[in-house]
Amino acid sequence: MPNVVFISPKGGAGKTTAAVVLALGLAARGRRVALIDSDPNKPLVNWGALPGRVSTISIHPAPTVSDIRDAAREASRRNPDWVILDTEGTERGTAVLAALRFDIALTPLAGSQLDLREAIKAAEIVGAFGRRGGRPIAHRALLTRVPAAIRPRMLKSVVAQLHEAGVQILPTPLLEKEAFRALFHIGGGFDSLERHGVWGADAARQNSEAYIADVEDLVRDAARPTASREARIV
Ligand SMILES: Nc1ncnc2c1ncn2[C@@H]1O[C@H](COP(=O)(O)OP(=O)(O)O)[C@@H](O)[C@H]1O
Ligand SMILES: [Mg+2]
Repeated sequence: MPNVVFISPKGGAGKTTAAVVLALGLAARGRRVALIDSDPNKPLVNWGALPGRVSTISIHPAPTVSDIRDAAREASRRNPDWVILDTEGTERGTAVLAALRFDIALTPLAGSQLDLREAIKAAEIVGAFGRRGGRPIAHRALLTRVPAAIRPRMLKSVVAQLHEAGVQILPTPLLEKEAFRALFHIGGGFDSLERHGVWGADAARQNSEAYIADVEDLVRDAARPTASREARIV
């Protein structure tokens, strides 16, 4: 059962959106998903209270770090195939790493210099935690809010600087789409958006499918014994 954490010391980076989009995509592929909401503002709990709730996604609030283990226990009673944890965008949010065992950590960032610094910080925190705990967590930056039509120069520079800092990037970026924002006022998933006539819902769904395939690849890769991973690189 893969455990995924969305982590970034920066608020507004796109964590909650990326967590919900991942949960929806996995649910559409027939997986049972438990979402743990460890942001005290409870964005996932609020999304789940809207109409159109997806029955195979359960949502478990953990308003403080000390609630996370209880929320994870409650989540495991639903026999999920995946557990996804959304954190608050502060340095305190990164304390969740100590509370649960994670296979992969994703740090969303928009193509801006401010987000870049915070994403590198997140990669360092996750890396240091893995080294201390002796169990590495696969970490990837996830570019998000990327304009669909043009690739601005700023974004290219951000990608280059991530590479330079040794931060690996998930291949598919999430695009800047009104449909991703609309999930949080309409509720449910892309079907609900289509029923409400939200423009671009289908393009958002297609973008999300490529992103989910990347996350599944990453989980598969992280599960491989180190020896075979090294062999692949050679
Ligand atoms: N891919 C996207 N396209 C359009 N808007 C987005 C996208 N990702 C995030 N947003 C918007 O950006 C804001 C911050 O996103 P959110 O997921 O709440 O970030 P975080 O959880 O890191 O604070 C929200 O208003 C959200 O609707
Ligand atoms: Mg959030």
